[in-house]
Amino acid sequence: MKLGHIKTISVLGSGIMGHGIAQTFLIAGYPVLLYDLKESILEPATARIKKNLDLFHDAGLVKKREIAPALRKLTTTTELRAAVEDCDFIVEAAPENLALKQDLFQQVESLCPEHAIIASNTSSLRMTDIGSRVKRKERLVITHWFNPPHIVPTVEVVKGEKTSEVTADTTVALLTKIGKLPVKINLELPGFLVNRIQIAVAREVIDLYEKGVASAEDIDKAIKGSIGFRLASIGMLLTMDLGGLDVWLKVYENVIPKIQSSIEAPKALQGLVSQGHYGIKTGKGFYDYALDFSKVELDEAVRKRDEEFLKRLKALYWKQ
Ligand SMILES: NC(=O)c1ccc[n+]([C@@H]2O[C@H](COP(=O)([O-])OP(=O)(O)OC[C@H]3O[C@@H](n4cnc5c(N)ncnc54)[C@H](O)[C@@H]3O)[C@@H](O)[C@H]2O)c1
Repeated sequence: MKLGHIKTISVLGSGIMGHGIAQTFLIAGYPVLLYDLKESILEPATARIKKNLDLFHDAGLVKKREIAPALRKLTTTTELRAAVEDCDFIVEAAPENLALKQDLFQQVESLCPEHAIIASNTSSLRMTDIGSRVKRKERLVITHWFNPPHIVPTVEVVKGEKTSEVTADTTVALLTKIGKLPVKINLELPGFLVNRIQIAVAREVIDLYEKGVASAEDIDKAIKGSIGFRLASIGMLLTMDLGGLDVWLKVYENVIPKIQSSIEAPKALQGLVSQGHYGIKTGKGFYDYALDFSKVELDEAVRKRDEEFLKRLKALYWKQ
């Protein structure tokens, strides 16, 4: 199927990822059917989309007059058939559970049009496994969005063993059209591409924290103002080319034998989790938060994060 044939989008699951994915298609002008198990889940999801769009407006990314028409294109439903029977592009954003996703994909295939592309937002599963019971596997693909999905530009487009080139290319074209930064990934590696890099960085960062090389605040400050600053604009390989590969080779050879290479989860991370310190949502992580951190304060922290991210989005990637 070609990009021009995609008229209607379906998003299955309206949680942290699903509502933001739906919002992105809505503001790009597509009608979206948002499916979840209960009305009581869909109502707050719709409210979050409205709130997000207000934040986008405050940041100067959408006009007030664009919000109401976008919201009118949203239909919520608790009936899977209604969600997918007339859809051309379906994004599954249900919980990260292989059996659940396999069932859902099998059901969706029996209800949706033959031409529809069915995408999964899985973080860690293989499309080949999720779609094992689907007959027409060439139309399955992973689209891995990053949280918050309505703000972070990159979406990894990962092919399964049977995903056709047309499916992958149409998916990339659709994501480009709605303003995302899709990256086509040809091998089903665990962690795809970005999470492999992110975990490699996290291992070293936590090791430096454990050794007391700097405080949590200073480690984050160092990253934000140096590699974070550069990578957000030009990526890694161009950074290396511009710096000089001869210099990079010397530094690499000097540093690589000295940095953390363990494949066990770092003790600091294991320790915090085993004591029930899960980060901001429990009041403690690498940083300390108010002990009675409430839902309101958590929402406020997320709002502040999103306002920061929207500044970056506007400066670097927003094209409308
Ligand atoms: N949260 C993240 O940071 C993140 C990032 C990238 C990818 N993902 C992936 O996206 C997917 C969704 O994650 P999330 O964080 O939005 O989860 P979530 O728990 O916030 O939302 C999942 C939603 O799916 C609904 N649901 C449950 N069973 C369902 C079914 N059978 N059919 C349709 N919907 C169903 C739930 O009611 C819930 O609203 C997962 O595969 C996850 O691994 C998450």
